[in-house]
Amino acid sequence: SSSSAAAAERRPGSHKGFVEEMRFVAMRLHTKDQAPREGQMEEAALPIQEWRPRKEDYLQFLVDSKAVYDFMEARMADADAAWLHEFTSTGLERGAALDKDIQWFRMLDFDVPPPTPAATKYIAYLQELVRDKPNAFLCHWYNYYFAHSAGGRMIGRMMSNLLFEGKEFEFYAWEKDVKEILGEVREKIDRVASDWPRDVKDECLNETSLAFAYSGTVLSNLAK
Ligand code: HEM
Repeated sequence: SSSSAAAAERRPGSHKGFVEEMRFVAMRLHTKDQAPREGQMEEAALPIQEWRPRKEDYLQFLVDSKAVYDFMEARMADADAAWLHEFTSTGLERGAALDKDIQWFRMLDFDVPPPTPAATKYIAYLQELVRDKPNAFLCHWYNYYFAHSAGGRMIGRMMSNLLFEGKEFEFYAWEKDVKEILGEVREKIDRVASDWPRDVKDECLNETSLAFAYSGTVLSNLAK
């Protein structure tokens, strides 16, 4: 019957809303090492527990992260697709916080490097995407900010204990309970995407693997 055909086409999580669909796709792309319950991908070359970056590598990771966040935060404010403007001042923004953390390194006489070619390449990709397929751009935005609130936070704690005697970086300090902010943003995404046709939703979901691949290149500053 036509109703069972519709059911067969239904995407996992779609009964709850579009964010849940995005989350489902993202969780499947985690390695077992990253998210033991849901990850299905092969192990990464170097498991997280074995990462031994230098302070300079962490600084490079912050610089690359700031470049990407600054780009996303600017585009959310001025994108041609006006509906993206809803995602400004959500409380998830990280550019200003990263600026403070990078200043701290500068104060300690570290040379602050420019973003790596990997980060620059990601931004160039996003630049095209936000112009041509703003709905697919939202997938990168979602994954980048939500990943930071979950695994990113865990990695930050590890790195801080390993290299900085447990220093609390601003990168991981939100102005209110981050869970609360994520809840508000989830509702916003669900609202914005509620009238997207199926093919537009799928185009967004299909960006998830690129979001992982590109943010993996930023993370690879630490995976050494
Ligand atoms: C959630 C770990 C990389 C996107 C999570 C969770 C963990 C985790 C523990 C929470 C799982 C749960 O709620 O059951 C990690 C680790 C990573 C990593 C250790 C790398 C070493 C990534 C990357 C992306 C990503 C590269 C995408 C760019 C997400 C998303 C969620 C998530 C979207 C869902 C967050 C939410 O619903 O609140 N991750 N992850 N993660 N991760 Fe990752």
